[in-house]
Amino acid sequence: MDQDSRIYVAGHNGLVGSAICRALEIRGFTNLIKRSHSELELSDQLAVRHFFAEERPEYVFLSAAKVGGIHANLTYPADFIRDNLLVQANVIDAAYLNGTRKLLFLGSSCIYPKFSPQPIKEEYLLTSELEPTNEWYAIAKIAGIKMCQAYRRQYGFNAISVMPTNLYGPGDNFNLENSHVVPAMLRKFHEAKQSGQETVDIWGTGNPRREFLHVDDLADAALFLMKHYDNEAIINVGVGVDVTIRELAEVIAEVVDFGGRLRFDASKPDGTPRKLLDVSRLNALGWTAKIPLFEGLASTYDWFLQSESLLRR
Ligand SMILES: NC(=O)c1ccc[n+]([C@@H]2O[C@H](COP(=O)([O-])OP(=O)(O)OC[C@H]3O[C@@H](n4cnc5c(N)ncnc54)[C@H](OP(=O)(O)O)[C@@H]3O)[C@@H](O)[C@H]2O)c1
Repeated sequence: MDQDSRIYVAGHNGLVGSAICRALEIRGFTNLIKRSHSELELSDQLAVRHFFAEERPEYVFLSAAKVGGIHANLTYPADFIRDNLLVQANVIDAAYLNGTRKLLFLGSSCIYPKFSPQPIKEEYLLTSELEPTNEWYAIAKIAGIKMCQAYRRQYGFNAISVMPTNLYGPGDNFNLENSHVVPAMLRKFHEAKQSGQETVDIWGTGNPRREFLHVDDLADAALFLMKHYDNEAIINVGVGVDVTIRELAEVIAEVVDFGGRLRFDASKPDGTPRKLLDVSRLNALGWTAKIPLFEGLASTYDWFLQSESLLRR
């Protein structure tokens, strides 16, 4: 990618897309192409073909997707499978047809089987059944991976697929009804501190282990892979280290400066005991995550405090 290459970041207002734009802009890439959802509906094939024919991006980061938690996946399975299949098929096909030099497709760790051995290696894809609560989304993402592989094999189109672990960072969704664990805890502890609450309740035993990657690290990895990785095999992006939910809660309490007690409600379900990506393939290429958890959470909390009025809540 040259500094003046025409680079389209699909979904540039989202958590991942905004971080990729920040990373590109900080590194001096000057020719970014952006369209908000209201300007360009990516599930509309004609609109996408027209946009690509006009703009002819040389590089594409495909970070637009319909994403959501368990509740949204269970309630709107048709929307999840349809929108994601349409968005990715339209963008990948139009990129190929209009001479895009390389496309990076964002997947997710939920594409892996529910009972994968830990840490999860890329080759575990499609080796056994998926987690049923989000299989609509996962199957759409797997179709996106296969589409990238098929276009590479049949047309020689340079499309790569990247699987990030759980992400957090500025631009995250802090709405308690459908947010992920990091923004939900940051907000809960913040509100507890503000209202002088003595105890914060946390679902489950606190024992499950999870991995958390700052979205600016993911963006750095995405740029690295756009530059250095040309292969049909999917590639994991993560920290390579996990923490218990209890440890996460303790760090967040420190970041927010909440001095009260944490109470774990063991009557609530824990979910899978461990979910950690094996990142040895990415490490072997020369990339490792750089942002330590405390530092990443502290800057995310700063962003939360500064942007409270803009948050999706
Ligand atoms: N967040 C994570 O922890 C995580 C972890 C692993 C992988 N990922 C992957 O990273 C990608 C991006 O996720 P994210 O967390 O950045 O999601 P996000 O914050 O919801 O951003 C997605 C963006 O895509 C746009 N979009 C959705 N449907 C569209 C459509 N039909 N046409 C045009 N634009 C559309 C959204 O616009 P509107 O909001 O206006 O609809 C939004 O700006 C996804 O593929 C996801 O699987 C995320």
